[in-house]
This record gives sequence, C-alpha cells and structure tokens, in this order.
Amino acid sequence: MENATFNMHFELCLPSRKLWSNMQRTVRTFQLLLLLFHRASVIAAAPASFPKSGNGLWYTQPGDVWSREWLPVGNGYLGAMVPGNTVQETTQLNIESLWAGGPFADPTYNGGNKQPSEREATAQSMQEIRAAIFQSPTGDIDNIIEQLGTDAGQYGSYAGAGNLLSTLGLTGTATNYGRWLDLDQGLAQTTWTQNGTDFLRTTFCSNPTRACIEHISTTNSRPLPDLTYAFSIALESGLPAPNITCQSKNTLLVRGFVSTSPPGMAYALLFRAFSTSPSAQFQCIQQPVPSGFPPNATIHLPVTAGAQVHDAWIAWVGDTEYDMNAGDAAHNFTFRGTDPVVKLQQLPSSPLSDYSTLLAQHTSDLKSVLSSFALDLGQTPDLTKSTDVLKAAYTVDGPASTNAYLDWVLFNYGRYMLASSSRGVLPANLQGKWGNGASNAWGSDYHADVNLQMSYWIAEVTGLSQTTPPLFDYIEKTWAPRGAYTALVLYNITRGWVTHDEMNVFGHTGMKATLAEWSDYPEASVWMMLHVWDHFDFTNDVDWWKRQGWPLIKGAASFHLEKLMPDLHFNDSTLVVNPCNSPEQAPITFGCAHSQQVIWQLFNAVEKGFAASGDDDNDFLTEVLTKRAQMDKGLRIGSWGQLQEWKFDQDSPTDTHRHLSHLVGLYPGYAVSNFDPQVQGTGAAKAYSKNQVLDAAKVSLIHRGNGTGPDADAGWEKAWRAAAWAQFGNSSMFYHELSFAMNENFGPNLFSLYNPGDPNPIFQIDANFGIPAAVMNGLLQAPDVASVSTPLIVTLLPALPAQWASGSIRGARVRGGITVDVKWSKGKLTEATFTVDAAQNIRQRPVEVIYASRVLGSFTTSSGLKKVFTVTRS
Ligand SMILES: *[C@@H]1O[C@H](CO)[C@@H](O)[C@H](O)[C@H]1NC(C)=O
Ligand SMILES: *[C@@H]1O[C@H](CO)[C@@H](O)[C@H](O)[C@H]1NC(C)=O
Ligand SMILES: *[C@@H]1O[C@H](CO)[C@@H](O)[C@H](O)[C@H]1NC(C)=O
Ligand SMILES: *[C@@H]1O[C@H](CO)[C@@H](O)[C@H](O)[C@H]1NC(C)=O
Ligand SMILES: *[C@@H]1O[C@H](CO)[C@@H](O)[C@H](O)[C@H]1NC(C)=O
Ligand SMILES: *[C@@H]1O[C@H](CO)[C@@H](O)[C@H](O)[C@H]1NC(C)=O
Ligand SMILES: *[C@@H]1O[C@H](CO)[C@@H](O)[C@H](O)[C@H]1NC(C)=O
Ligand SMILES: *[C@@H]1O[C@H](CO)[C@@H](O)[C@H](O)[C@H]1NC(C)=O
Repeated sequence: MENATFNMHFELCLPSRKLWSNMQRTVRTFQLLLLLFHRASVIAAAPASFPKSGNGLWYTQPGDVWSREWLPVGNGYLGAMVPGNTVQETTQLNIESLWAGGPFADPTYNGGNKQPSEREATAQSMQEIRAAIFQSPTGDIDNIIEQLGTDAGQYGSYAGAGNLLSTLGLTGTATNYGRWLDLDQGLAQTTWTQNGTDFLRTTFCSNPTRACIEHISTTNSRPLPDLTYAFSIALESGLPAPNITCQSKNTLLVRGFVSTSPPGMAYALLFRAFSTSPSAQFQCIQQPVPSGFPPNATIHLPVTAGAQVHDAWIAWVGDTEYDMNAGDAAHNFTFRGTDPVVKLQQLPSSPLSDYSTLLAQHTSDLKSVLSSFALDLGQTPDLTKSTDVLKAAYTVDGPASTNAYLDWVLFNYGRYMLASSSRGVLPANLQGKWGNGASNAWGSDYHADVNLQMSYWIAEVTGLSQTTPPLFDYIEKTWAPRGAYTALVLYNITRGWVTHDEMNVFGHTGMKATLAEWSDYPEASVWMMLHVWDHFDFTNDVDWWKRQGWPLIKGAASFHLEKLMPDLHFNDSTLVVNPCNSPEQAPITFGCAHSQQVIWQLFNAVEKGFAASGDDDNDFLTEVLTKRAQMDKGLRIGSWGQLQEWKFDQDSPTDTHRHLSHLVGLYPGYAVSNFDPQVQGTGAAKAYSKNQVLDAAKVSLIHRGNGTGPDADAGWEKAWRAAAWAQFGNSSMFYHELSFAMNENFGPNLFSLYNPGDPNPIFQIDANFGIPAAVMNGLLQAPDVASVSTPLIVTLLPALPAQWASGSIRGARVRGGITVDVKWSKGKLTEATFTVDAAQNIRQRPVEVIYASRVLGSFTTSSGLKKVFTVTRS
C-alpha cells in the first residue's frame, strides 16, 4: 500500500481525521506537561531488572508520541500501549475485534459486492473487458472499475478502545526513572523514586486468562499513596462516551459503542482492582455527571490510617459483540454475536486476585510459545545505552558494534509481537492489535497483496506455528463464505470463492471502486492459500489439513480453475488470467507474472496435498493437473533482460515500485528460486535454464531500487528486498537492505513506521515481521518444491553478513516436520543438526543440505531421524 490508498482512506474518513489530529495534539500537550512536571533524571545503565541478555527495550524518559515511543503488550485478544508515565499512567487499550463500520453501521452492508440482479450484466461486462484486453495492441486497457468495482460502503476501521488512567496522589520530582519492555517475560515496566518512595509499575497481557494487568508496588517498604483508576475516551479520537458503572466496590464496567452515528458495534471492558494487603479498601464511586450524560465511575484506593498497602493491581478483560462465526449466509452475514457483557461474564474465572500466580502463568505461557526457537547473532548487548540512543547510533551497513545487538533485539521483538497479537480470535492486522484512533490508517485492515502475508512469514520457520489458527479461521469464516457470492456475482463463477486485496473483518470480498491497481487482485486468496499449504507442509498435521486446510485450498483453486482462460492475444495455447493487475501497479492486463506464478504454486499444493486430504474428488485433481500443464507459468525474460512483470513486455527499467510482485516466485515462493525447465517449461520458458531465469529476476530486483522510490519509503519493501537478495546469496546487498530498513523505518520503540519523518508517524507492523523473516532467509533457506519427490534443498548460511560473524540458531523449522539447529563461528558453519519430528504422518522426502555451494549431505525424512553435519575448519 502507499500514499494514494492512504489518502483515499482519509478522504473517506475526513471528520475522524480532524478529530484524530486534535486528539493527538491534546495527548502530546498533556504528555509534555507531564514531562515538565516531573522531569525524569537520566540514568546511565539499564534498569536493574532489565534482562541481562539485553532482550528488551529500555528508556530513560516516559514515551511521548504513541507510534514512536510507547511500548506494546498484548495477548491476542487485547492489546495495550504503555508510555511509562509516573504519577498518571495512560494505558491505551485495544480489543481485537473493535471495528467501526460493517453491518453494525449499515444492515444492508454486503461486503462491497454487486447486487444479485447485477450478475448477468456484470458477466457481460466481464466478457467485454476480457475481449478488449486481448484485442488491445498493448495488451492492456485503462479502466475496469466502472463496470466491476463497487463502492466500499461501510468498510469501517479498527478502532482503539480508550485509555486506562491510573493516578497516584503524589507530587514532587521523579528521580531514578527507567522504563523497559522485557521481551523474555512480556512485561512493560517503569521504575522511579518520588517523595522518598521507590515505585515499580508492571503491565502485561496474559493469554491464558485473556486479561491485561497493571500492577503497582512500592519497593522500599513505603506505603502506596492514594490511587485512582478511571477509564477515559478523551484521548481516543471519536469514541462516544460509554456507560461506566460500579459493579462492586472494586469492579468497574465500561459498556459502549464504537460509534453512534452511524451506529457501531457494542464493546465492554470489565476492570477489577486488587491488592495483596487485606487492609486495602477499594471504593468504586459514581462520578457526578451533567444530566443527560452517560454515567462515569472510578475506583479508588485511598490511604487510610493504619493501613499499610504496598501494592495494587487492576485487571481488565474486554470484548465486543462481533462474532466471526456469524459471517456466513446462515447468519445473514450479520457478524453479530452475544452481548459483550455476557461474553465477559462467561469467561472462565481466573485467579485475578492472585498476582504472583497471574504473573507466573503469563511469563511461563509466553516462554512456552517463544522458547522452542532461539537466535544468536554474536551480539554484545550494550546495557549502558538506552534503546533510542542505540537506535540513533545504528547505521546502514554498520559494523557489528553498532548494529548486531539491535538486529537481534528487532528480530526477537518481531516474534514477541506475533505471539502477542495473533493468539486471540483474529489474525494480526496492519498494526498487529495496536491501534490508537477510532479510525486508523488504511483502517488498520488486512492488505493481502503482501502485507498480511509478510506478517506471517516468520510463523512457521521460527517455531510460531501456534500463531496461525486465527489467520486460517479468519480466512475460512470471513473470506470464503461471502467470497463464494463474489465469485458468482462478479465473475459468474459457481465454484469456490474469491476475495480481493483489502479486507476488513466483515467479509469485504468485492472489488473496491478505487483504482484497479488497488482492488483488482483476486489472487489475494491464492497467495494466502500458500500459507495454508505451508502450515501443513511444516507440521504434517493431517487432521487440521482435512478439516480446514484442504477445504480452503480446494475452494480457492476451484474458482481460479474456472477463471483461467485461453490466451487470445498471443494465441500460444496457454491459459492466463484476464483481467489482472500486478499488485498496486497500473496496467490492467492479462497473464500477470505474479498471478500465474502463485496460481501455479497453488495447483502444486493441490497435487501435493491431495492424498492426505482424504478427498476422493479425482475429477478435481485431474482438472487441476490438466490446467496446470496448460497454464502460462508467468516466467518470461524481457527486452532488457528482466523477468517480465506482465506477459506483454511493458516493464520500465526505471520502475522502482515498492512491490516485488513478479519476484514472488523468488521469495517467499519458489516458481523462480527453484525453476525447473522440465516442469515449468511452457511457451517461452521452455528454452530457459534455471540460471537464466534467476539472472532475469536479479536484473528486475536491481532495477526495482532499494525500496525508497517516489511512491513510498516503507520498511516492508526493504525487508522484501533484503530477503530477495539473501535468496541470491548476496550477503552485502542483503545486509544493506536490512540495515537500510532498520535505519530508515523504525522508531525509538522499534515500531516499523510508514512515514518515519513525520513527527506523528503511522505505525505499520509488517516490517516488524518482515525483517525477522529476511534475517531467517539470510541464514537458512529451504524454498518449497513443485512435488514432494523433488529434493528439498536446505541451504545453510546462504547470505551470512560479516556483522554476524559468530552465532547460532536453535529450533528453526523447515518443510517436512524438520527442526534445524545451526552454529557458525568466524563467518563459517561449524555444525548443523536436522531432527525430523517423531510423529506419525511423516512423509518420506529427500533432503539435500548445501553449504558454501557444496553438498554437505543428503537424507530421506523418516520419523525421529536425526542427522548431524560438522564442518571442520580447513
Ligand atoms: C438479511 O440482510 C439483508 C440486508 O443485507 C436484509 O435486507 C434482510 O432482511 C436480512 N434477512 C434476514 C432474514 O434477516
Ligand atoms: C453466466 O453463467 C451462466 C451459467 O453459469 C451462463 O448461462 C451465462 O451465459 C453466463 N453469462 C455470461 C455473460 O457469460
Ligand atoms: C510524601 O511522603 C510523606 C511520608 O510518607 C507523606 O506524608 C506526604 O504526604 C507525601 N507527600 C506527597 C506530596 O505525596
Ligand atoms: C470519568 O471520570 C474520570 C475522573 O474525572 C475522568 O478522568 C475520565 O475521563 C471520565 N471518563 C469518561 C469516559 O468521561
Ligand atoms: C447507556 O445507558 C443508557 C441508559 O440506560 C442506555 O440507553 C444506553 O443504551 C447505554 N449505552 C450502552 C453502550 O450500553
Ligand atoms: C489471435 O487470435 C485472434 C482471433 O482468435 C486474432 O484476432 C489475433 O490477431 C491473434 N493474435 C495473434 C498474435 O496471432
Ligand atoms: C537508495 O536509492 C536511492 C536512489 O537510487 C539512492 O539515492 C540512495 O542513496 C539509496 N540509499 C541506500 C541506503 O541505499
Ligand atoms: C551483490 O550485488 C551487488 C549489486 O548487484 C553486486 O555489485 C555485487 O557484486 C554482488 N555481490 C556478490 C557477492 O555477488
């Protein structure tokens, strides 16, 4: 995505944008005042409890700008952003399904689709468009949206869920200040001293309890001052005032709507305050409000004579009435479920009153998710410089001394963020689960033309398979059901389902009436199916494959089988897509390289997964194999030696477009990286050798520039380029792009920023996930293969940069249920261990291990097999 979509989005939401910037100003003025009020004194070392390994982020001042300085915690269901203030902490809240728009705003919302009555006329238009494209002397036409597009209507946006204010009755100057995010334990913490009291505040969100917790304690046996908890919407743009009521003396219920005009979904938050001290006397007080205003209430913990209270915490849970299971025809696509208050009451009761149990449960849960994998880049943590200072010292192509430690932290941060944002009901959106406005950039939606994919590139390979269920459930429950209707009404296709690039949580499957370059992307479903395939290929989870993976893939493939058609331009007897757009590129044409490559890979997945699916639909398999043989494979070398982005040679050598769409088969796919003329040699590609195809891809990559073209300067485009350079085994270009992204596109809180130069930039999470994926591709590669009998080539340390001279990987995963451990020293591999899962369902497949262009060895997978390769120095 880039500027144009961004502007478009805001044109749709002008009122909220104005409100948003007003609110942002208010937030910042407020924070500035806070800062002036108790100027933090600077400490020269990481806080005492900061992880000794350096696995975290720390600062000597409270956070100011949300997207640059606040720190994220989350459990998938809830997110929270923590500035680390002292007297008054302002924790910004998120509930994963809190979205404006959709059927809540407009009961006639139909996912941006045509009406049933338009089917025949649309089918007619589609035929005319296809003919016009084939007949065009340049193979393209200017406009299809007038006929095929549909107004996005109440597309909506992910929305923030207000702020928790916790206020201490305290004045004076804060000293000994420090705040940090502990990535081992998933804790955002703040320490400081004020009026002789040492404070420690800890915030975390626990997945097992679904609750977030903010805990405050004094650490030098002084009592806590007065403490007040309040819920505020004043800092959130445009959220209407909710009803806030006392449920008991320590319980506050917030019940609101995301919007009132137009109406929006209901949400609820339940806050409960506790202390370990039996003498703590919480009071919930209804505040006086002007008549006609919704009720407001706050929880107080006053200092009372004789009571010695040293700690208190507030735990909150939240939900909305959104229900992904009501996103199909049987539920009339209402997406409406149970009242959120009832949902919260139905949550399994957790020991929220037992802080040490809560904390232990959370840290051990996070550890269980993260610890099957570990990376060491030979980094030396510098605990004398705060993260913002280290970030400022980081340089493009910089030496290990300035870069390696931060490279490592950023890598771990990506895994932490995925574990913290993709273990609820919905997958990580464009901002994970962290969004601070009632309307966020691009709706903080799901862009499935690289962004959503990139967010999950690390999932399988770094042992985070358990973050994928929300992704696949989301596709199954919000894309496929209405996508079948889109197939019918837009494409006149009665089989399978389809969706287009930009997706909300309300099944927006239609083609948006923006420019075709944004919306004409029915291959969104195809590319995502490659993730579905990968999940099976990495885990061999046959039960899951039968239940969810295969039906999804079959549905998406069925649609595209119907959509492929004979090329009536070149008349070369191949099947092509028409119309197509290479993601976010202007030409509306046929046979786009990207589309052909991903569909070919999808058809391979069908063949590879058919036997395990238990499906006996042999006609389907035969049709897939027949059309796969006939289809154009999307590989064509053009007039300036480039890999063509379109079947019609119209690439410009000066096109530095942010996307590398036609190189999808280089990375993350394999149509290019594992090109095989025996298998893919159709049409022009018949005559190519693997090296010729790779060289053409390299020419394209070089001409695409370094990911800072006039169209955008985002981090994700650099992360993709870094991974692509790693695929070529070019460590200097790999590290150049990686360090360029890091240098250019990340804030002091290491959030990936879309427009880093802006004082209040947009957070866009994809590069936070894309950088770790690129790091992995520099260290370990095992791209997919067209058939399970083709050897899986595992390349060790293909693009190891000098900056990471010594290090190790423990627990990386590759296809076939294989775990890989790698060690290297002084730039050279020393040992690699391959362990095949001890499990049923392990498929026998040949594996070849490559290091420094030579074959270290090969084996065939079988349950529990272990292979160790040691390399002695010559
Ligand atoms: C289903 O939703 C449509 C609007 O999309 C509405 O017109 C219709 O009345 C609804 N049907 C039922 C049974 O609720
Ligand atoms: C749409 O599909 C129906 C049946 O599937 C077919 O009869 C009709 O001719 C198609 N319309 C066009 C314009 O292709
Ligand atoms: C400072 O601490 C003292 C001793 O605990 C207490 O009496 C006093 O109220 C505190 N002052 C402020 C401003 O918090
Ligand atoms: C409720 O009252 C508290 C304390 O005055 C205030 O900070 C908060 O913003 C109020 N909440 C709402 C939603 O108005
Ligand atoms: C708040 O309370 C009023 C009065 O009881 C009610 O009309 C309104 O629907 C409530 N709002 C929410 C979000 O529950
Ligand atoms: C392909 O065939 C169509 C008619 O089926 C014809 O109009 C067109 O000129 C042909 N193109 C080429 C390149 O031969
Ligand atoms: C990126 O490319 C632009 C345009 O060629 C060039 O001006 C700039 O120096 C490059 N920056 C880096 C860090 O490679
Ligand atoms: C890496 O790519 C750059 C840019 O194309 C090239 O100049 C350099 O020679 C390459 N290095 C290697 C080792 O291939």
